[in-house]
Amino acid sequence: MTFRMHCGADRVRQALDNQSCGHSVQHRVAVKGCAALPAMASEPLLPAQGTSAEVGGGGVVYAHLPTDVRKQWYALAFSADIPAAKPKRVGQAAPTPMSTSLLGDPLVLWRDLQGKAHCVADKCPHRSAPLSLGTVNGDSGHVECIYHGWQIEGTSGHVVEIPALQEGKPIPSNAKVQTYPVLEQDGVVYVWPGPPEAAEDTASPPRDMTDEGTALADPSSGFVLSTMCLDLPIDHSLMVENLLDPAHIPFAHEGTIGSRKKIEKMNMTIEKTANGFRGRIKPEYYNAFEAPCNIVLHTPPKPGSWDMYQYVACTPTAPGQMRMVYRAYRNFATWVEKVPPLKRAFDRMSQKIVFQDYQLLLGQQLRLREHALPWNSTIQVDCLPLAYRKYWQRTFGKKDGPWWRGWDGKLDLEDLEKLGSFDKEFDCNGCALPKRPHHPQNVLEVSGTPGVALRPEPSAAWKVWGPPLAAAVLATLCTSKLMRA
Ligand code: FES
Ligand SMILES: [Fe+2]
Repeated sequence: MTFRMHCGADRVRQALDNQSCGHSVQHRVAVKGCAALPAMASEPLLPAQGTSAEVGGGGVVYAHLPTDVRKQWYALAFSADIPAAKPKRVGQAAPTPMSTSLLGDPLVLWRDLQGKAHCVADKCPHRSAPLSLGTVNGDSGHVECIYHGWQIEGTSGHVVEIPALQEGKPIPSNAKVQTYPVLEQDGVVYVWPGPPEAAEDTASPPRDMTDEGTALADPSSGFVLSTMCLDLPIDHSLMVENLLDPAHIPFAHEGTIGSRKKIEKMNMTIEKTANGFRGRIKPEYYNAFEAPCNIVLHTPPKPGSWDMYQYVACTPTAPGQMRMVYRAYRNFATWVEKVPPLKRAFDRMSQKIVFQDYQLLLGQQLRLREHALPWNSTIQVDCLPLAYRKYWQRTFGKKDGPWWRGWDGKLDLEDLEKLGSFDKEFDCNGCALPKRPHHPQNVLEVSGTPGVALRPEPSAAWKVWGPPLAAAVLATLCTSKLMRA
């Protein structure tokens, strides 16, 4: 097996091992591969400066977390975005299903005529055409392949209709596609990429809740919800680390939620939670990691009255690709939801905040691909994202980790990435299909909102052509006045 990525992954592994040798940062940087390395999972990665008390008693904050990341529920979409069968609509008049991927597996999602959501492998059992290029048949509620019109029933994954099949002939017994269990909760669609039978024995993912146990999505909670679903060409681990890192806010988010006036010294304490761990630099606020890839941020603008919870699923869709399924709940300025222009402005601000992170993470990812190290040196407040990186090392970063299952060893990194994002390239203007609302034309567009780019808008047009136009008008007026004089 000669994946080009192995080289980079080995470097990452070595860097993390260097970080955990128990010696000073300077020592670890100077002596790569220190002989005093403990085993990978023996101790948590402690901050370079700081004592065990400062990191919540020094306990292993991630050792209780499961290491099989396939046996997990992943937030993959919002319920409202899953295309549903429209009675009687077939062919080009029918909606197209949603295309995405999870842990490198291309997937297709849709709702049948009863409204039940289905998820199956995005590969036709006839000749492997992507099912996501097809439609949701409005007569049957099944997904219909664009190539020869075979129809697949979502619960069993069986082909139930083959238009060209001779009269009386049976449907081939192996005409079946892999199915993925689906669960909907709090308006979010969760998909299980592991063995389907294991999903039945596993608890549902935790609900979006306040610390006091109020279900945030319930209308009676007093909270309103803002959402975003974004496909980003970034490894999900970089976004998770970013969201666990309060020290970047005054710099990376200057102009939105950050200000250089708010620069402060930081000391992070960490505590274990049932399904992850969380860190605090102030008592009222926390950044929490919930396995396998979810973040909860509690950031009340006015503790005790104005409250805010952000749930951010950083779902690993493919190597170097992630989908962010973002929910922000707040109990203040709730009236903004009823004023569409203000709500749009509010949502745009949220998108800009993500874009500020996106820009720098994309650059960081490029450096990592040039074999730079994800961590070179650390300070105390880095202990939270570092604890996550240690968890990552035991799960997604394993050499036989989820990315590599099913690949035959002939593909390099670029090929793998294309597999995770083919739809973005195929959804081109030259395509004969109608506009596909669930296939963002570029990864910076908001899922389900074609043409709405995440990239901040350039300055208003009038700011560009206004001054020269005004100068030209003034010059013309002056010239004509002079000519008359
Ligand atoms: S490839 Fe799907 S029907 Fe033939
Ligand atoms: Fe950020």
